[in-house]
Amino acid sequence: MHAHSMLIAILSLAISAISVTDSAHSPIITATPTRALANRQVQTPILSTLQYPYTALPYQVYPYQVLRGPQFGYNQCNSTTLGPKSNCQTLIFNAPDDFCLWGSPDANGEIGNVEAKVVAYCTKPYHGTRLIPPDAITGLQWIRTSAYIQVTGFINNSAIGLDNKPGNGGELDPHGADLQGNPLGGVVYSNGTADSDGHNLVQVMNWNT
Ligand SMILES: *[C@@H]1O[C@H](CO)[C@@H](O)[C@H](O)[C@H]1NC(C)=O
Ligand SMILES: *[C@@H]1O[C@H](CO)[C@@H](O)[C@H](O)[C@H]1NC(C)=O
Ligand SMILES: *[C@@H]1O[C@H](CO)[C@@H](O)[C@H](O)[C@H]1NC(C)=O
Repeated sequence: MHAHSMLIAILSLAISAISVTDSAHSPIITATPTRALANRQVQTPILSTLQYPYTALPYQVYPYQVLRGPQFGYNQCNSTTLGPKSNCQTLIFNAPDDFCLWGSPDANGEIGNVEAKVVAYCTKPYHGTRLIPPDAITGLQWIRTSAYIQVTGFINNSAIGLDNKPGNGGELDPHGADLQGNPLGGVVYSNGTADSDGHNLVQVMNWNT
């Protein structure tokens, strides 16, 4: 039954990352990795440091003519961008009935080929994005803690533009080898994290799917 793939998305709050300490052993401090920094084109910002109020997002947060760029879609998403051709790259992650996942803008996309340009597909027509069809998700578990929100479930990949080949998988996050993110310019907001008042959207600085 490879038509349905496991779906996992984890979003953590910016600062409150969990650190695990083993008091029985002295910590081993390893050198700071520099390789990813070297891959970034000089002078371009690190995507995971770019912060905007939801209501003050620029048209594109990553318009730079970089090696993998510029950004494929845009970040100002509203009723004019809603629909199956939307290239909105602002992902909303509120609640089990109101969240988005990254999917391919072209049908049958292989994740490794489209990771830089994935766009948001949402369960609700509120966020200026493409929509996840109602029958595409066949299982869902929503976990909300003080440090992160995680959704795990089953989805028909075709419904979000991805191929259904068994074994295909990939990770999307605001880092990547060149620190420009996958997708480039992708940003995430939620009103369900512990630092939101439950109404206003707050930017999630660390996320992966
Ligand atoms: C709606 O989104 C479009 C496309 O990103 C943008 O050009 C426009 O300014 C937005 N409108 C409002 C009112 O934010
Ligand atoms: C998955 O979605 C595609 C396109 O929407 C559809 O043609 C196909 O029948 C679906 N597969 C399953 C197993 O539901
Ligand atoms: C916050 O999330 C809830 C649940 O999805 C939704 O009903 C509400 O409209 C959201 N509020 C804002 C301001 O986005």
